[in-house]
Amino acid sequence: MSELHIPGATPARGPTAMQVARDKEDVLVGDEIVRHRLASRVIHWTVAVFFLTALFTGMPVWSPVFGWMANLFGGLSVCRWLHAWLGVAFVAAFLVMFVAWLRDMTFDKYDRRFNVFEYMKFSDKEDPDVGKYNAGQKFFFWAAGLGALAFLLSIAFFVAIVGHIYLSTAAEPGTFRSMTRGTVTKSWARLHHPRWYKEVVGDGKDR
Ligand code: HEM
Repeated sequence: MSELHIPGATPARGPTAMQVARDKEDVLVGDEIVRHRLASRVIHWTVAVFFLTALFTGMPVWSPVFGWMANLFGGLSVCRWLHAWLGVAFVAAFLVMFVAWLRDMTFDKYDRRFNVFEYMKFSDKEDPDVGKYNAGQKFFFWAAGLGALAFLLSIAFFVAIVGHIYLSTAAEPGTFRSMTRGTVTKSWARLHHPRWYKEVVGDGKDR
């Protein structure tokens, strides 16, 4: 990140750090450093709100132990549909955050030295080569990314299952019986799986 030094910028002589933080980050303003510009903060809190509300609407659907959480959103039936949409919103917001923060979250050679047990001592002596984010923070970023991906895949899988059920029943008559009776008609096989039909029927003689 380029260092934009705004020397001596104080409320009296220029923009305040908070004003600079509207559209710049990684810059020094007076005696403060801008770490997250407004867009970064907005996307972070959007992700956080969608994540937490998706969590709190999902828990009561998952188990009655968390039934009390449903009251926060107007009952269990609201939670059922709201949860799915909040999940989609979380993934969409996370995607924006992912693209925006990817560069800063790429692991570098210094991250190998990160020791979570040392870090948890919260001592004053931290690794002098730690950059904007330490390896633990980067790891959390990627873990959250994996979580969002898993959610996306689970939705995609749900859609795939619905498609699968439609194709194997209404869309292609004669398919469902293959999983009940175990058999299909020859015309079904000739139409949908011609090579398999030829392999099985061979010279055309019935077994
Ligand atoms: C109320 C809940 C939350 C609070 C109080 C919170 C607070 C913060 C703060 C203060 C930072 C900046 C840390 C720094 O600059 O070093 C941060 C960064 C971050 N937050 Fe959150 N956050 C919350 C929820 C979430 C959620 C739900 C997600 C994603 C699912 C998330 C993802 C991240 C990521 C990826 C970073 C950058 C890496 C890191 O600092 O760990 N946050 N958060």
